[in-house]
Amino acid sequence: MASVTSLAATVNQRVADALSAALPEAGAADPLLRRSDRADFQANGLLALAKKLGGNPRELAGKVVETLGTDGVLADVEVSGPGFLNITVADRAIVATLAARAADDRLGVPYATTTGTTVIDYAQPNVAKEMHVGHLRSAVIGDALRNMLDFTGEKTIGRHHIGDWGTQFGMLIQYLIENPDELAPAADVDGDQAMSNLNRVYKASRAVFDTDEEFKERARKRVVALQSGDAETLGLWQRFVDESKVYFYSVFEKLDMEIRDDEIVGESAYNDMMAETARLLEESGVAVRSEGALVVFFEDIKGKDDKPVPLIVQKADGGFGYAASDLSAIRNRVFDLDATTLLYVVDVRQSLHFRMVFEAARRAGWLNDQVKAHNMGYGTVLGADGKPFKTREGETVRLQDLLDEAVQRAAEVVREKARDLTEDEIQERAAQVGIGAVKYADLSTSPSRDYKFDLDQMVSLNGDTSVYLQYAYARIQSILRKAGETRPAAHEQLELAPAERALGLHLDAFGATVAEAATEYAPHKLAAYLYQLASLYTTFYDQCPVLKADTREQVENRLFLCDLTARTLHKGMALLGIRTPERL
Ligand code: ARG
Repeated sequence: MASVTSLAATVNQRVADALSAALPEAGAADPLLRRSDRADFQANGLLALAKKLGGNPRELAGKVVETLGTDGVLADVEVSGPGFLNITVADRAIVATLAARAADDRLGVPYATTTGTTVIDYAQPNVAKEMHVGHLRSAVIGDALRNMLDFTGEKTIGRHHIGDWGTQFGMLIQYLIENPDELAPAADVDGDQAMSNLNRVYKASRAVFDTDEEFKERARKRVVALQSGDAETLGLWQRFVDESKVYFYSVFEKLDMEIRDDEIVGESAYNDMMAETARLLEESGVAVRSEGALVVFFEDIKGKDDKPVPLIVQKADGGFGYAASDLSAIRNRVFDLDATTLLYVVDVRQSLHFRMVFEAARRAGWLNDQVKAHNMGYGTVLGADGKPFKTREGETVRLQDLLDEAVQRAAEVVREKARDLTEDEIQERAAQVGIGAVKYADLSTSPSRDYKFDLDQMVSLNGDTSVYLQYAYARIQSILRKAGETRPAAHEQLELAPAERALGLHLDAFGATVAEAATEYAPHKLAAYLYQLASLYTTFYDQCPVLKADTREQVENRLFLCDLTARTLHKGMALLGIRTPERL
């Protein structure tokens, strides 16, 4: 369990030390080391530094080269261009650092230097409603972020802020009272049935609600009964929640995602806090009464007619809505769960809501420099045609249908490739490949950007897809099996081929990549890293025979590179929530 300092970090430190020896005024300046095509690394921080301190960059670079010298780590350091350093590391240093990684369960990935508690709000569908692709994104991105944060030592608490409260429940419950047999007990149905029952009840109650004024009035009274905690009403409300959960769980299971019941804490859970939240905001002057409602105004948030758009904490009729539940949730997460970070994975279209909620919470003192809130507003999922994702009939696409289709398409790919698999094995792998493809397509795009849901592209064997990564992994496993008695072993004295060095230096960067992806909430950086890893592995595999290498040492060392690549792919994909089957 020892974290391993990457070779890149070691070299960077060496150059930094040489730099401050050569130029004491530079202090602890960063030489800005990057991977480079010309050498292994290039340091280009000297240029700006020399300019700033009024020196000649090439001269400074020359001095640094002299101070550095060469040794077991640095094989060659040269000045290039106007004052860059081109640095080549020794083969043995590459193998040694990789051996240290391989010896560690965590592949040498360090824990973050400062950690706290992040409450992450993700995967938040709505009761009695079909889940759509937007909910898919929140679940997939949230799950990956959570894995990455956990892995770097952050404590995470999940909150699935499901939409389980609000006026529509008056309509639904009243309808159920008048048509008691319409909803089968949750225990008797599977996810699909649960959703189609809920859909039917939703549509039927909506139809009555829209046409029957008296029903509408009874539904309105039912909302009041619900909010005041009437037992019969709450019992029926619970049935809608339970039935919906059967459906949610079936979708999350299909998504191969673990959701814990105690973390499903929806809007309703904050009902008892709402009045106090409103009182605190009003007493502190953060919220004011305006036309009977309790609202918070913001200088810089104005609507079309230049009138300020307020955040409504309490409506004029006394009711509480979405904002009040989110403000109450903040109090709960900060003061009861001791969060240091509140992370929301919610559609970018709700970013104004969160801007206002966070600002109100800041004014109230619930958020501050020690407790931060951030909304990872994610972009829209588009159809393959680049337009918002809809069925041909213009309806939202059912999430289950989409996932089923992805799995089916993956089965075709798997079946074609693997002729020796049984039908059961094909189905099992198809699920891992299909769901992996859906997750990867989402995660390999920067969360803030829209992306196209294009199944053809997603399950393609070529290009930046999870299938490509899964095949790379499976191919390595097959080589390791074929190696039989010959086990992977690092041999530091061997000379490395260019493709081995490129692969090795990329493996060296795993820890830094995970750390960066976690702190920046950027799963796409990890995805890009893994794709490049698989590509470098492919080049290595084409150029460097493994089992047929010249010497036994070389076979073992190449197997070692194969094995570490596989473990890195496996770990990285697991952080993204994607399986890597042993055989494909
Ligand atoms: N249920 C909401 C929706 O489907 C998302 C909830 C986001 N989380 C929150 N704390 N508001 O749009």
